[in-house]
Amino acid sequence: MASLNDIRSTFLDYFKRNGHQVVASSPLVPRNDPTLMFTNSGMVQFKNLFLGLEHRDYKRATTAQKCVRAGGKHNDLDNVGYTARHHTFFEMLGNFSFGDYFKEDAIPFAWELITRDFGIDKSRLLATVYHTDDEAHALWKKVGVPEDRIIRIATSDNFWQMGPTGPCGPCTEIFYDHGDHIWGGPPGSADEDGDRFIEIWNVVFMQNEQFADGTMRPLDMQSIDTGMGLERIGALLQGKHDNYDTDLMRALIEASAHASSVDPDGPKNIHHRVIADHLRSCSFLIADGVMPSNEGRGYVLRRIMRRAMRHAHLLGTKDPMMHKLVPALVTQMGQAYPELGRAQALITETLKLEEERFRTTLDRGLKLLEDELAQLPDGQALPGEAAFKLYDTFGFPLDLTQDALREKGRAVDTSGFDAAMDAQKAKARAAWSGSGEAADAAIWFDL
Ligand code: ALA
Repeated sequence: MASLNDIRSTFLDYFKRNGHQVVASSPLVPRNDPTLMFTNSGMVQFKNLFLGLEHRDYKRATTAQKCVRAGGKHNDLDNVGYTARHHTFFEMLGNFSFGDYFKEDAIPFAWELITRDFGIDKSRLLATVYHTDDEAHALWKKVGVPEDRIIRIATSDNFWQMGPTGPCGPCTEIFYDHGDHIWGGPPGSADEDGDRFIEIWNVVFMQNEQFADGTMRPLDMQSIDTGMGLERIGALLQGKHDNYDTDLMRALIEASAHASSVDPDGPKNIHHRVIADHLRSCSFLIADGVMPSNEGRGYVLRRIMRRAMRHAHLLGTKDPMMHKLVPALVTQMGQAYPELGRAQALITETLKLEEERFRTTLDRGLKLLEDELAQLPDGQALPGEAAFKLYDTFGFPLDLTQDALREKGRAVDTSGFDAAMDAQKAKARAAWSGSGEAADAAIWFDL
């Protein structure tokens, strides 16, 4: 069975053989891009090449890019643990052309790699194209996809944008049909959210630039940007339906099971999944220089760390646990990402310190939450005041409280939370001093 590490290499080698420069992943904190919190796709490091503002000595590139989607336009944080395919950290495999080849090569490249090198059964594949894109439609027909398996989509699903501004364009997506024993309809149908048809690769025809005022202009050159989630293609090639059952994720889940002495496949499996995911995002963010704090990127990191720590607590661990999993992560990913090994001591220490600090208030905060819930009628949302107290006094980010309530089928009164935050801000202003976490974070929330 090919491991995720093997699959990454097969992808990069294929494009190297086809004249692409293998370029290292860029850091998770985008350089020179204040519009973006974290690198969320392979094209981020090439943004200025697509816009024609920067030139390099290659016109074709291929990467395995570290991505975090835990804030901004692409945010998967709330789904992690509950679904088979969401991650805060994942790797995006991609090939890129900067004004070199366009659709006529991008589609045959993609087809050849997945059907020949990866050996995926052709009869299981479908393609979507943007509804007006006759050219892409014809190219899929030419490589041999039957017409009834090429679907035209008129929505933003087939028009990719990095964020509110920047390069963008129509795209074609490749889907895999897991078979009619699994519920779900083809892309574009009413049942498309089911699990039967899974998108495995997005090929973007970069040809426009989007501006903040809503206008769009055609770019001078036509380029290619593609993205294939390694965890997702890995699951497919390893015959699994769940990304967390791939060899790499499984090794982290087993490390979590070992450190907590809790069955990896028992009823607490969800906690292991969240921990495995969050271990990756936290460790890679720290390796790229983000430190937990009360604002900006550092606050997103802190939120992910604290969420993971609540799940570790739910596994019944008494001592800090996250830092004990770092060696397993370095074993799995340290070769592909040497920065992980270089930062191992810093990652370990940062996770340990944060967990020690948070442990002291986590127990008390969870107790307060239980007491509040005991007084509430069934199904009623937690009052915003209580969520704010958890935030301000016990260091519970709002989304951590929401995550805790989700298991109980309850929500938070977020407008009450905002009102309490505003009141705190006004008080802090009147007192002429920023005090505690609330004042700092209020400014960040405003921004
Ligand atoms: N940039 C495209 C994506 O993220 C390929 O899906």
